[in-house]
Amino acid sequence: MSYTYLKNETSNGICTLTLSAPKSLNALNSELLGELGHFLDNIDSAVRVLIITGDGDKSFVAGADIAEMSTLDEREGFEFGKRGTDVFRKLERLPIPVIAAVNGYALGGGCEIAMACDIRICSDNARFGQPEVGLGIIPGFSGTYRLAKLVGMGMAKQMIYTGKPIKSDEALRIGLVNAVYPQAELMAQAMKMAAAICKNAPVALKYAKECIEAEYDLQADEAIAYENRMFGKCFATADQKNGMHAFLNKQEVEFEGR
Ligand code: CAA
Repeated sequence: MSYTYLKNETSNGICTLTLSAPKSLNALNSELLGELGHFLDNIDSAVRVLIITGDGDKSFVAGADIAEMSTLDEREGFEFGKRGTDVFRKLERLPIPVIAAVNGYALGGGCEIAMACDIRICSDNARFGQPEVGLGIIPGFSGTYRLAKLVGMGMAKQMIYTGKPIKSDEALRIGLVNAVYPQAELMAQAMKMAAAICKNAPVALKYAKECIEAEYDLQADEAIAYENRMFGKCFATADQKNGMHAFLNKQEVEFEGR
């Protein structure tokens, strides 16, 4: 399928997905969200890491589309929010690692889509914020949940109540991003991280992601038991046999992902 708002390119198992709505600084409209859902449902099984970025050098995503939201009633508002939250949940549950390469404004829904990714890195001109209350709404694509989870309640409440964006260095300080790079280096750094991830066993990566996500909401004993089960399952994979055999025989390993 060809997309209006998405561009994607895959090489060596790394897919770069660019969100592109240049007239609105890549704001998320319903059509774009629909395309994103379709893309995630049909992602090629050969893709081992997904990188998400925004078109241009000014904005990653400037939020949900305010023009589209401006005329919604309560039921439509609920549905618009659900459309975004469902797609972001799909993204969060993708069985491969996802890196957000945040190349500028990540406001409202833009900060929220970055938070649904596994890892966030950004350019030095990036700005993160949840300005929704200034528009008379609250974060609507799971921002109240994921921001507090990532940076703690105090900072999440400050960002959401003031609506004031933070700069890249502050995002780094509070742990919202893992690294900040000059704009010109961002995509190369994202590719470098993706390539490092790609060298590792795909099934183990999938299980590790599943553990980290699932265990967060469990009690300690349940979480530890969960990991124990998944650890055991690794030993039923060819990747474990091949990875350990290669180590013991001082060889390079090519993981098959099974
Ligand atoms: N929705 C729709 N259009 C948007 C947009 C958005 N979120 N953000 C920017 N645009 C449009 C502008 O209306 C403008 O269009 P025109 O050229 O037709 O006037 C164009 O993009 C360029 O924007 P600006 O002229 O405003 O650019 P700027 O450099 O002066 O400012 C900005 C950049 C600070 C990002 C500013 O555009 C801005 O504040 N945007 C809105 C940010 C925002 O409030 N996001 C949250 C949306 S609500 C949300 O996301 C809810 C949710 O959780 C689901």
